[in-house]
Amino acid sequence: MSTPLLHISELTKRFGGYTAVSNISLDIQRGERIGLIGPNGSGKTTLMNCVSGTLPPTAGAIAFESRDITHRPPHKRARLGLSRTFQIPRPFHSMTVLDNLMIPLEYVAHRGVFNDQHAVAEAMALLDEMGLADRAHERPATLSQVDLRKLELARALAAHPKLLICDESMAGLSAVEVDEMLNILMRINGQNIAIIMIEHIMQAVMQFSQRLFCLDAGELVCEGSPQEVVANPHVQRAYLGT
Ligand SMILES: Nc1ncnc2c1ncn2[C@@H]1O[C@H](COP(=O)(O)OP(=O)(O)O)[C@@H](O)[C@H]1O
Ligand SMILES: [Mg+2]
Repeated sequence: MSTPLLHISELTKRFGGYTAVSNISLDIQRGERIGLIGPNGSGKTTLMNCVSGTLPPTAGAIAFESRDITHRPPHKRARLGLSRTFQIPRPFHSMTVLDNLMIPLEYVAHRGVFNDQHAVAEAMALLDEMGLADRAHERPATLSQVDLRKLELARALAAHPKLLICDESMAGLSAVEVDEMLNILMRINGQNIAIIMIEHIMQAVMQFSQRLFCLDAGELVCEGSPQEVVANPHVQRAYLGT
């Protein structure tokens, strides 16, 4: 086996006396398409917050390309190739759509080289890929829900990730828009970028994922092929709420 891209080992996150993530270990390989499922409140976002560095774990360790990143701040993880989108898009509202991409491009990908013509060209190429090129000089407030989610994705991609974590990028979208997002994510994955998709839309996550992980009440209750996981009795119980 090659070394995994991401290695999570015995990770626990407590909020006071409440255990949101309980002793989770899992590996993700380079270029993999992963689905992370589980009922609301099962710890998916918290686990990914620990991976991206926005929350410190209570116990356990995280390694990215064999480097221990458990205690590194989010921006350093981003520079190593770990990028994420937020469940609620977080653009800079006072900036244009284009400038929203310049921040990660200049800071993470071009490492502090500002006003770089290459960075502008790259930002425009990313917007073009998302179908947002004609919105480059508008403010995020003028974008529809699906376009905001595409901007969120473009911002994450601007940091040149090896692993992209998408937290409910399809929530609230129409069936047509979900398909559009799936196509974009498949194209991104085609560039050998591993993707962890947190998603409630089962049809989308089943279609997308090579492997699924299911959390329930902070515990990893099942992992395997999408077919194996949805057939698992514990997973079915978690979803039926019995
Ligand atoms: N910052 C926080 N402080 C206290 N409790 C939190 C915090 N973040 C999440 N939780 C709790 O942890 C549990 C898991 O939440 P979350 O990871 O957001 O679940 P999911 O993304 O699977 O819906 C929930 O019960 C939630 O209320
Ligand atoms: Mg969540």
